[in-house]
Amino acid sequence: MPVPARLAPAKVNLGLYVLRRRPDGYHDLSTVFLPLGWADRLSGRRADELVLTTTDPGLPTDGSNLVVRAALALRQWAGNPALGAALHLEKRVPYGAGLGGGSSDAAAALRLLTGLWSLDVPEADLHALALGLGSDVPFFLDGVPAYGTGRGEHLDPLLDPDGQPYRCPFWLVVAVPDIHVSTAEAFASITPDDGSRPDLAAAVVSNDLVRWRAEVTNDFQGPVEATHPEIRAAREALLDAGAGHAVLSGTGAAVVGVFEAEDTAVEAAEALPATCRVWTELPEGE
Ligand code: C5P
Repeated sequence: MPVPARLAPAKVNLGLYVLRRRPDGYHDLSTVFLPLGWADRLSGRRADELVLTTTDPGLPTDGSNLVVRAALALRQWAGNPALGAALHLEKRVPYGAGLGGGSSDAAAALRLLTGLWSLDVPEADLHALALGLGSDVPFFLDGVPAYGTGRGEHLDPLLDPDGQPYRCPFWLVVAVPDIHVSTAEAFASITPDDGSRPDLAAAVVSNDLVRWRAEVTNDFQGPVEATHPEIRAAREALLDAGAGHAVLSGTGAAVVGVFEAEDTAVEAAEALPATCRVWTELPEGE
């Protein structure tokens, strides 16, 4: 039975606090995940072997690709090494950029192959498989705005004050400088101070940009910008062009600029350095 292709959306973090280092080496976080319309596309059909092809020649297609790792993990869960698939990934979102591109592809692979292989996988098992692939992967299983804690895998849907799913009312311009930030190095550069932190979910859903500037912040921004001036330049270009707020996503290099008006957002996107890849996200409902 053929299954429909799946979109694998990027995300931005609207705020990211690193709360403490854990005995297992990971860090407890507090963050808001917001999915974007910018997405990769994963398609697949049953095949004798497990094969991945992609539109991006720079991307590995062996066991180091999270899509292949997701397929192998699911096949192991099913206990059936004969399960095969020909998977094709249209790569559109820059990876290694703090946009969760690889994690989203992995979640899309879990969902797509569950259907393709007609597996009845309990959601809790799928969540555990996702977490085994990476801290951000569980978020992408549903891909709805969420408040994440723990490694980022404890997810609460982000609700507005009326209890409705949060819809971001702003234009977002995502600038991705053409540099790579090592996630492990970024975590190593942080010393959490165990102090109390603002309620990030409440800050985001307030839609108050004064509050966003004070509280929707990313603990990686200072240390990462200190070693990567291109990121600071992109963020300052967004602010100079009229962003009400601009903040690093994940461990970078992506920066998200927040705009109240379309014309300012469009002009800001055009004013970014030519070396940046740029995505403009419309307010939800536009
Ligand atoms: O889980 P993931 O493979 O995405 O994590 C990559 C690296 O980022 C980990 O090896 C760890 O160094 C760091 N990390 C962390 N705490 C988290 C998530 C990631 O320390 N919550």
